[in-house]
Amino acid sequence: MSTPTPDQVLLPTYGAPARTFVSGHGSWLTDDAGRDHLDFLCGLAVTSLGHAHPAITEAITAQASTLSHTSNLFATTPALELAAKLRDAAGWADGRAFFCNSGAEANEAAIKLARRHGKHRDPGKVNVVALTGSFHGRLLGALKLTGNPAKHEPFEPLGSWVTHVPHDDPDALAAAVDDRTCAVWVEVVQGEGGVRPLDAAMLERAREVCDAHDALLVVDEVQTGIGRLGEWYGWQTTSVVPDVICLAKGLANGLPIGAILAHGVAAKAFQPGDHASTFGGNPVACAAANAVMDVIDREDLLANTRAMGERLADGMIALDSPHVVGQRGRGLLRALLLDAPVSATVTGHALEQLLVVNNVASDAVRLAPPLNVTPDEIDEGLRRLGLALSAATHENGTS
Ligand SMILES: Cc1ncc(COP(=O)(O)O)c(C=O)c1O
Repeated sequence: MSTPTPDQVLLPTYGAPARTFVSGHGSWLTDDAGRDHLDFLCGLAVTSLGHAHPAITEAITAQASTLSHTSNLFATTPALELAAKLRDAAGWADGRAFFCNSGAEANEAAIKLARRHGKHRDPGKVNVVALTGSFHGRLLGALKLTGNPAKHEPFEPLGSWVTHVPHDDPDALAAAVDDRTCAVWVEVVQGEGGVRPLDAAMLERAREVCDAHDALLVVDEVQTGIGRLGEWYGWQTTSVVPDVICLAKGLANGLPIGAILAHGVAAKAFQPGDHASTFGGNPVACAAANAVMDVIDREDLLANTRAMGERLADGMIALDSPHVVGQRGRGLLRALLLDAPVSATVTGHALEQLLVVNNVASDAVRLAPPLNVTPDEIDEGLRRLGLALSAATHENGTS
């Protein structure tokens, strides 16, 4: 049978794919024409150890040939070990995890946990305050949290339990939180919102008002967690400590997994029967995640992420192009900021230069290389990005 095209077999949720990739190795992806691309996107910040990492492949194959599913009626060693690793990385002795299968699912689990926390105190304590420009997923609850009205509109009504406040207005945040608020939802760096770090003042005020109103501070670490910002968790690059974090993307280097980690009062909110996932805690996905965390630890990849992140940031600023107006981000989650809405054009030219990046906003290109990227690869990525910018400049006739 010849392989069908996406429009022949898939619902039309995605645009036409620009490439078909058939294999990958480290920071490199090979397409069906045999061309090697430098992957500075990692499947949307997922394959943090690069493609076909031998330790991950070995962990997956060993677990798949031992035990691949039990359901949540039974415990498995990989899931228990992973929960302990996540807890230890946070430094939360009383930390407790729940496993699911994606970032949106992690947010949904956290919504239910926050509601249980609230309703244990007051039946009406079910509201959430979230931020404009945020992204928390496409399932209905996570979509409601997402601070992007255009994404809501086709699916309204989504209820009235979320208030969105500007991501840079601590006073508006404080004014929106009251005793009926069960949680405040933030990302340390808004990934889909354009790789936009939140100001320390915003995070600090969020912590303060949560404490004042007995609400949980939930940090969505789906994109920023597991080393992406140069610490295990993004909140560890800030001065605030959340009550709950949501994880997914980089956790198992490409196998579907999601998790929440809660501590303190938040870890006491769920009771048996409150939440479940048939596949959650799947031993193969958990074995992959354990291997990811072991490799990051063993190879000191948090330090590499910080160093390579600085190298990438410095290199982006130094790019000789009239389009470049700056960069933002932290660790290896970065955006190149452009002077005009040309990021789709730049991203297209980058692909022609065999560099995979994405246009996260009309004037911002996202770069999320693997955490084990080398200095030579960073420099090569910058060289290709420079060529893409030149091509975009010529196309716009502004050279
Ligand atoms: C911060 C954040 N939360 C949640 C999600 C949703 O994750 P998923 O696509 O795995 O459902 C994403 C995906 O980009 C994200 O960046």
